[in-house]
Amino acid sequence: MNRGGDQPEKVAHAERAGRNGHEGHVIWLTGLSGAGKSTLSVALERRLFDAGHQTYVLDGDHVRAGLCSDLGFSPADRSENIRRVGEVARTLADAGVMVIVALISPFAADRARARAGHAPGRFTEVYVNAPLEVCEGRDAKGLYARARRHEIADFTGLTSPYEPPVQPDVEIRTDQVTVAQGVDLIWQHLQREDRLLH
Ligand code: ADX
Repeated sequence: MNRGGDQPEKVAHAERAGRNGHEGHVIWLTGLSGAGKSTLSVALERRLFDAGHQTYVLDGDHVRAGLCSDLGFSPADRSENIRRVGEVARTLADAGVMVIVALISPFAADRARARAGHAPGRFTEVYVNAPLEVCEGRDAKGLYARARRHEIADFTGLTSPYEPPVQPDVEIRTDQVTVAQGVDLIWQHLQREDRLLH
């Protein structure tokens, strides 16, 4: 907005939020491979988008095909993966978008670092939780079977650790609730925190 001076004024965060009707926000889904992060992220984005929010999904399977295609699954590479995606998420949130991140993000320290870049209340950690046996039973991509045959190293839950969140903002037991119910739980949390479109 030019308020009469010679110099155009930088677009402020509040102006973006004012136009969108909501603040930028990061909804970070963490959990084992096969726990249901990608499925939930698609359904949650659909619900938010259709209700009029600015949305975007950053999914591990996608970013690893591009932005992070140089990275593997060692702890150091995972940290770097999470750092980069965390930075992109922060930038998009700064631009006013509700960003849904779907990454295994197995290490608590990496998740804490991703959260640290945000104003309080603008980051929601969601633990997408299903027992390892359930995730392995689903094995949609056949990766657990390959990891059991030692064809894949450093596989989360089998040969690489997963540190569950101690105090997630939302926990979804995907072996106990439907996708729609899971989306409801996140939606209700965002509503309680006054993060949704007014
Ligand atoms: S993270 O640990 O760095 O957060 P990310 O979510 O990006 O992982 O990628 C996980 C996806 O990569 C899984 O959904 C799976 O399809 C694939 N994948 C391939 N190798 C591995 C592995 N060793 N451990 C976990 N996931 C793997």
